[in-house]
Amino acid sequence: MERKYDFIIIGSGIAGLFFAQKIASMLPDRTVAVITKKRETESNTNYAQGGIASVMSRNDSFELHVADTLQVGAGLCRRSIVEDIVRLGPLTIKKLVDVGVKFTTMRGGYDLGREGGHSTNRVVHAADLTGREIERALLTACRRKKNLDMFRDTIALDLITYIHRGRRRCGGVYTFSEKKHEFSSFYSPVTMLATGGIGQVYYHTTNPTIATGDGIAMAYRAGARVANLEFVQFHPTTLYSTKQRPFLISEAVRGEGGVLRNSAGVKFMKKYHPQKDLAPRDIVARAIDNELKKTGEEYVYLDISHRPASFIKRRFPNIFKECLRRNLDITKDPLPVVPSAHYVCGGVMADLYGRTDIDGLYVCGESACTGMHGANRLASNSLLEAVVMADFAAEAAMDFREKKTFPDVPPADEWLHSSIRKMSDRIVISHDRLEIRRLMSDFLGIVRSKNRLKMAHERVKVILKSINSYYLSQPASYGIVELRNIALVAELIIRCASWRMESRGLHYIVDYPDMDDSKWKRDTILKPPNFKAARRGSGKRR
Ligand code: FAD
Ligand code: SIN
Repeated sequence: MERKYDFIIIGSGIAGLFFAQKIASMLPDRTVAVITKKRETESNTNYAQGGIASVMSRNDSFELHVADTLQVGAGLCRRSIVEDIVRLGPLTIKKLVDVGVKFTTMRGGYDLGREGGHSTNRVVHAADLTGREIERALLTACRRKKNLDMFRDTIALDLITYIHRGRRRCGGVYTFSEKKHEFSSFYSPVTMLATGGIGQVYYHTTNPTIATGDGIAMAYRAGARVANLEFVQFHPTTLYSTKQRPFLISEAVRGEGGVLRNSAGVKFMKKYHPQKDLAPRDIVARAIDNELKKTGEEYVYLDISHRPASFIKRRFPNIFKECLRRNLDITKDPLPVVPSAHYVCGGVMADLYGRTDIDGLYVCGESACTGMHGANRLASNSLLEAVVMADFAAEAAMDFREKKTFPDVPPADEWLHSSIRKMSDRIVISHDRLEIRRLMSDFLGIVRSKNRLKMAHERVKVILKSINSYYLSQPASYGIVELRNIALVAELIIRCASWRMESRGLHYIVDYPDMDDSKWKRDTILKPPNFKAARRGSGKRR
């Protein structure tokens, strides 16, 4: 099946939907397609709890928010990007409200939460279901647009690229629908990659199953540089469970007075950082890791039971309900929690307008690396970055509105033409997926070592080679598509982590425990074999 659109967006999280509704409104005579691999709402965005960081009170200032972001980013943030994004915080909140998002208010203003690394209360939220409210409002806005088509249950396989006047261009994307068993080629002069994070590359993660790093893998295969993938953020407090799906306990719980205790009931964070339980996430996660290694326990406790039950139920209705469903009463019981993979600070290299190394290919949200987060992300800065980028990218992509040319490329993925599809061994796929995820959690976790990185790399290279050899002989399925991406992203993370011979932000390696600005105050950039240098056009570019 061949389809032609003026704009294609891959992903229906905050970044993709904000971009889609904006471009569809600005250009009502142009066609827009949103492609998303599962239900429209299924995204990291939908599970966001804490909220969006923005300077909204008289006790706060842009300078303070910038300083907190730079401090947490451990010397690798791009100051100009941080300043631009932080200054646009209040306008971004207004734009979301204009689209229909309802944030929690208090005495005529927004109720501002507090999270780790922030020196004041500045997190705008919708109770503890901020992401779900944002998805609701953005999807409603998108559904109202007559020029916007939504393709759910459709997975992007690979970008369509070609060489135009000596430069690499993106002309759309090949997709597959498992439900309809249908391959399609979506052609467009503008492709927006908004595929989110990589949590599923790890065994223990807060991310839903869609977060398999597909966009980062597709962009790298297409010839775009990726950067800073060693900086995987572990959220300190995921509810411990061996059987049930992972559930995040928002940092906002600590922002409202929640404290971490070890199995002896001792509040341990004061030993690790002056900001105690509200220290930056890397420090809290490493402190928990250290306590667990010392005690041999499986989890530590998060305790907010000293706050009034009525307050807890009002402020954290979803967390209260979900814990109760698991026989835990957060108003009375300390919750068993562990750190797990949550957010990737690196991604496809892009400027604030989402422009990448490939003409016509844009990226925004968690798949992108702009330099906003440096070596560690300040809590609740990602939703902010995603909207600012999507907003800017929509302006930049408008330049392409007159270029309704479509590439002369093969009509669909190699898969369409591949007649040999004999192997249907699903156990191979599930085994490889599990092996990579366990390997990454065990060897590329909060504390790393040279030896473990080397072992992980050797094993992942072997698995990746075998996947690449059996990829085309498998019957098409989401399983094989995601496995190929998980394996590539794992390999890219390991390469970044092995290159950085120092400890900085989220990358802590026992062989090099100190930060070394003289050698390593720079991004870890990986160039794909088919990389072509990009034009230096107008506007800002990394
Ligand atoms: P996503 O929201 O993940 O959307 C990606 C979309 O791409 C999905 O629709 C997915 O199905 C689709 N997709 C992926 N691959 C393909 C493919 N191959 N083909 C088709 N579609 C594809 N950040 C904050 O700032 N504040 C918070 O309070 C906060 N809380 C969080 C809580 C949790 C539990 C989690 C997991 C994250 C949280 N974050 C928070 C991080 C933040 O939610 C994410 O960084 C952000 O939502 C990413 O938005 P996105 O649009 O880039 O990607
Ligand atoms: C949380 O609510 O703790 C998540 C916030 C974030 O990841 O920014």
